[in-house]
Amino acid sequence: MPATPAFDVEALRAEFPSLARIGPDDRPVVFLDGPGGTQVPQRVIDAVTAYFQHTNANAGGAFVTSELSDAVTDEAHAAVADLLGAGSPDEIKFGYNMSTLTLHIGRSIGATLGPGDEIVVTTLDHEANVSTWEAMAADRGVTVRKVDIREDDVTLDIEDLESKLNPRTKLVAVGYASNAVGTINPVAEIVARAHEVGALSYVDAVAYAPHGPIDVRAIDTDFLVCSAYKWFGPHLGALYGKADVLDRLPAFKVRPAHDRFETGTAAFESIAGTLAATDYLRDVGRRFGAPTSPRDRRAELVAGMTAIVDYEQGLVGRLIAGLRAMPGVTIHGITDPARAAERVPTVSVSLDGLHPRAAAERLGRAGIFVWDGDFYATGLIERLGKAEHGGVLRLGLVHYNTAAEVDRTLEALESLIRS
Ligand SMILES: Cc1ncc(COP(=O)(O)O)c(C=O)c1O
Repeated sequence: MPATPAFDVEALRAEFPSLARIGPDDRPVVFLDGPGGTQVPQRVIDAVTAYFQHTNANAGGAFVTSELSDAVTDEAHAAVADLLGAGSPDEIKFGYNMSTLTLHIGRSIGATLGPGDEIVVTTLDHEANVSTWEAMAADRGVTVRKVDIREDDVTLDIEDLESKLNPRTKLVAVGYASNAVGTINPVAEIVARAHEVGALSYVDAVAYAPHGPIDVRAIDTDFLVCSAYKWFGPHLGALYGKADVLDRLPAFKVRPAHDRFETGTAAFESIAGTLAATDYLRDVGRRFGAPTSPRDRRAELVAGMTAIVDYEQGLVGRLIAGLRAMPGVTIHGITDPARAAERVPTVSVSLDGLHPRAAAERLGRAGIFVWDGDFYATGLIERLGKAEHGGVLRLGLVHYNTAAEVDRTLEALESLIRS
């Protein structure tokens, strides 16, 4: 068997023009803001430009630009189906972003529910997978049950989840990974428990998708959502819905719509860019993943995402080890290297005596871009007692970050704490 080539981060970085940005200290900027949205490779920029140059037309016309536009749109559905492991491109629906897709599908699911029904959401989730459902529940007279976390390692309290499931449960909305603290949830197990009580499952994979392979059929989820702008693509949301579940849901649509769940004129240029982003990830697999059968897009995407997992685990291990050695730093979430597979490389910290915004500003001035606050994981940050303290500081690694950038960030944090 041919050996898997070493992950060449510099070769991949060369594809991302924005990574060449020079910071105030004349050094390249360190982008640790990935969980808020990643940078994009040149081919994504080119695909968006090419769409406007050569393919710009509305859907369904009898002329060449419309036909080309339809072909790009169809191929993008097929590519995202391969990325997520869906059985058919028809199970992929593009929309403005994850939040809007969730509100939209929530209206459809809500139409099947009423008083006496219950839904389950979690404290670990982004509000787009919590308050969206709470709004639907308030509309329909449905009861909401919220699963707590275990405070010590900021993981979902599975026993609490169990206690909230019953035959009245109609939907379990859960994150694949936390966008704030990086915890990966045992989604296959949670979906199985939801199905046992007859509930639908809705998995928010926005924070997981840039960091690992997804297999919606193995998880057996009814729905899974993600956003291309978190995985090196343009601003676009993508929803997977199991064909038979989508078919039996009522759809809120205009009468002549081409699709029951994709409403209005699509963001064609973003769809073209999303196709290019899947192509990039596929190339990562071809170049640095375990060998697969050629021309098998799904296999190459899985190989790419698996190579990314391996690389990122080393990187986040280095970051966490450095942070643990630093006095005055509290890491929120899993820190045990033996549990590396239970987290994505999104690490949130509190620094003694330093407000997260002040720390982010000072890091920003040092050319290190990080987010502070609650990142819309509002319930979690409240639960951690950090809401009145400006939230936390989030160091978000993705596969284009390097060990040298981790070291530079650790040094910058150390001098922040010392000063
Ligand atoms: C875990 C998670 N879910 C949902 C969202 C919302 O996604 P969108 O911006 O596509 O609506 C985000 C955005 O940060 C997120 O991190």
